[in-house]
Amino acid sequence: PRRIIIDTDPGQDDAVAILLALASPEEIEVLGITAVAGNVPLPLTARNARITCELAGRPDIRVFAGCDRPLERPLVTAEHVHGRTGLDGPELPEPRMALEEAHAVDFIVETLRREPAGSVTLCPLGPLTNIATAFLRAPDIVGRVAEIVLMGGAYFEVGNITPAAEFNIYVDPQAAEIIFKSGVPLTIMPLDVTHKALVTKARNDAFRALGTPVGLAVAQMTDFFERFDKEKYGSEGAPLHDPCVTAYLIRPDLFSGRHINVEIETTSELTMGMTVADWWRVTDRAPNATFMGDIDAEGYFALLTERLARL
Ligand code: BDR
Ligand code: CA
Repeated sequence: PRRIIIDTDPGQDDAVAILLALASPEEIEVLGITAVAGNVPLPLTARNARITCELAGRPDIRVFAGCDRPLERPLVTAEHVHGRTGLDGPELPEPRMALEEAHAVDFIVETLRREPAGSVTLCPLGPLTNIATAFLRAPDIVGRVAEIVLMGGAYFEVGNITPAAEFNIYVDPQAAEIIFKSGVPLTIMPLDVTHKALVTKARNDAFRALGTPVGLAVAQMTDFFERFDKEKYGSEGAPLHDPCVTAYLIRPDLFSGRHINVEIETTSELTMGMTVADWWRVTDRAPNATFMGDIDAEGYFALLTERLARL
């Protein structure tokens, strides 16, 4: 299996991404989960990560709290999408498993130093603050990362938090810039992909029809998450962003994209956090990321339903 650290700000879609990983031990081994401030403040993302592990029947997974604010900018949260707790929708018990005492950044640094070089993949599902802080503090680990597969950015679909920027990159553009300039192989799941993965009624019904606590909770999470896009945009359903990352580790064939140059806007307030993706290769800037553009949405939801049934 691919050995991964999930860096996350749950978030209903983060929770589904974690559930998919924990349901797929043949392909994915979760070394730990690191929480970061993003959709909601850090105490809630650290709580929601543990609720999700317990929902999966995996209280043994180690969960670490990390950075409570972006490197330079004030924290921007998204309760308007995810609700007050970040995991609104299902009624789930408060977590009983403890949060690890170590800081998430120390866990990331120590894990990358301890494990063989090139054996650990990082999977960020939120703002990139924890990963960038680890890279700043311990530059020796950068070359040891096998790959970073992250959800963030946009090209044709442009912004969801400002007209120019996607939420995860916008919240901490300085951190994103460090990751995009790091030289680590990057695979990016932007809005261009996730906006093609909508939770239609039939897909939500399929989760509910699993008849398990996990199936019901995921259906209630996506119901809640959906009200935002449906009410605001009249779309068929909400995009299920973050599970694209863990789905890619299981079925890379579901995704297609281009290996291109992607730079992060960090100065202009108007376009702060924009992922300037050279999709048409109009510059001679060196490619630094595989920027996905398309997804087999039917295959993606079939995979999710089949795997969630195993929990
Ligand atoms: C990203 O922002 C968050 O609201 C979601 O969890 C996802 O990671 C989508 O822009
Ligand atoms: Ca997220």
